[in-house]
Amino acid sequence: MRDWQAVKGLQVAIDGPSGSGKGTVAADLASEIGLPVLDSGLLYRFVAAMALARDVDLNHADQLAALSIDLVPQMDWRPDGIWFEGENYDEQVRGEEVGAGASKVAACGQVRANLLDVQRQRAASGCIMDGRDIGSVVLPDAQAKFFLTASLRERARRRWAQYKDKHTDTDLEQVLMELKMRDQRDAERQHAPLRQAEDAIAIDSTTLRADEVVDRMLGVLERRKLIVTTA
Ligand code: DC
Repeated sequence: MRDWQAVKGLQVAIDGPSGSGKGTVAADLASEIGLPVLDSGLLYRFVAAMALARDVDLNHADQLAALSIDLVPQMDWRPDGIWFEGENYDEQVRGEEVGAGASKVAACGQVRANLLDVQRQRAASGCIMDGRDIGSVVLPDAQAKFFLTASLRERARRRWAQYKDKHTDTDLEQVLMELKMRDQRDAERQHAPLRQAEDAIAIDSTTLRADEVVDRMLGVLERRKLIVTTA
């Protein structure tokens, strides 16, 4: 039995760079307060995966925009992944190639615009949504916004450990370099770059465990009366 329940329709935005722990923390917080989690990165990853599968040029904004318009009505974005033609694409979009493609897709303003409505619609009944621009662009009225950071080295170490768990042989320095490049692209892009919303609470997770981050978030939600105790 959970100790907490989110108030009806609560929207929690968690933004931050790759490897800052957003996914883990969002899932743990969700199980504490009974809200679904929606990972917005999956949307960009899915468009990238379909672009790769259909030979759409990832550097061609118009083609990516057309692809995203075509895909949006056909896909079903759920807490357990993106469903398309009866298949869950969650696993297929997690790889490095798709991740690198997603970073290009995410830089395309038209694609971002085409994905806005689906994000707002899915959030309407309450959720924890994680990404890069959730607090700043997608859900500017979210009742709680967190901006999760961690040092580049620690984020690279976490990514590298994830790869190792999946028996993928990767070099830590290589992961660090790729992360650095992705950070730069996400932060410097023209459309909805990664930035902390003015009213977001920053949490540096470099030396914190996931449960310590979640505790801080619960403290904020409790003080704002956005969660009620079920005990
Ligand atoms: O969090 P992730 O690695 O799954 O995200 C994949 C890419 O999509 C990454 O380059 C950042 C981008 N992204 C974004 O621009 N806006 C979001 N709300 C979520 C992800």
